[in-house]
Amino acid sequence: MTSSEVWDAATAAAYDADAAAQFAPGVLGPTVDLLHELAAGGPVLELAIGTGRVAVPLAERGLDVTGIELSEAMVAQLRHKVPATEIPVVVGDMATATAPGAGDYALVALVWNTLSNLRTQDEQVACFANAARHLRPGGRFVIELWVPPIQRLAPGEHAVPMTVSAEHVVIDTYDLLTQSCASHHYHHDPDGTVRSGVGHFRYAWPSECDLMARLAGLEPEARWADWDRTPFTATSPSHVSVWRKPQGVS
Ligand SMILES: C[S@@+](CC[C@H](N)C(=O)[O-])C[C@H]1O[C@@H](n2cnc3c(N)ncnc32)[C@H](O)[C@@H]1O
Repeated sequence: MTSSEVWDAATAAAYDADAAAQFAPGVLGPTVDLLHELAAGGPVLELAIGTGRVAVPLAERGLDVTGIELSEAMVAQLRHKVPATEIPVVVGDMATATAPGAGDYALVALVWNTLSNLRTQDEQVACFANAARHLRPGGRFVIELWVPPIQRLAPGEHAVPMTVSAEHVVIDTYDLLTQSCASHHYHHDPDGTVRSGVGHFRYAWPSECDLMARLAGLEPEARWADWDRTPFTATSPSHVSVWRKPQGVS
């Protein structure tokens, strides 16, 4: 049983178009470059692989890539791009599912804020443990995660505009007691249709991630503000963090 919302066929079919900005070479290129470097030629497990935005170019660079993904509809979209023989995927919860080759991955990756799709602390802790148990000694766990923009909340307010454009408006609302966030999306399609939806998340601070990594037996290696290795600062809106499984630990 997972607290994550399961993405349906309509959401999956629209995903690549809705996420076009994340596919732009200036965004995706540095992501794939750094993941490729961190894998150092070894096998990669992507948690929440989605439609393969990151996994497909990593596999095209010659890495063995496997995925875990909760939504069968997202995997079906991936299958329009690559067969299961090239990028195998286990349909399941990234906090608990086991991929073939567990214990031998050089890199486990969980990108684009997706740790937050697990909406309880217990599940996020379990996800770090699951990542760690898939790694070989010396292997790396990397996440890309937003820093909760709580400082943008005006006193007494609980909503922050995250994206405002003619095509897409996103308003996030926060519950500071439960660390929960609801992300309200409004897409204005070219035919004039307005699609709306709401996603629910649990935010975690970088320090909480470090603690979850420590609980999983992982050691911190690096934290940057982005995939270009920009230094992380007190005002960085997100982070790319890397932890390693110590050598000699199986
Ligand atoms: C923002 S998308 C990211 C997909 C892909 N990694 C990318 O970068 O484009 C989030 C993905 O997480 C998946 N997901 C959400 N909760 C999950 C869980 N508990 N276990 C596995 N996958 C999950 C969703 O189905 C969706 O495919």
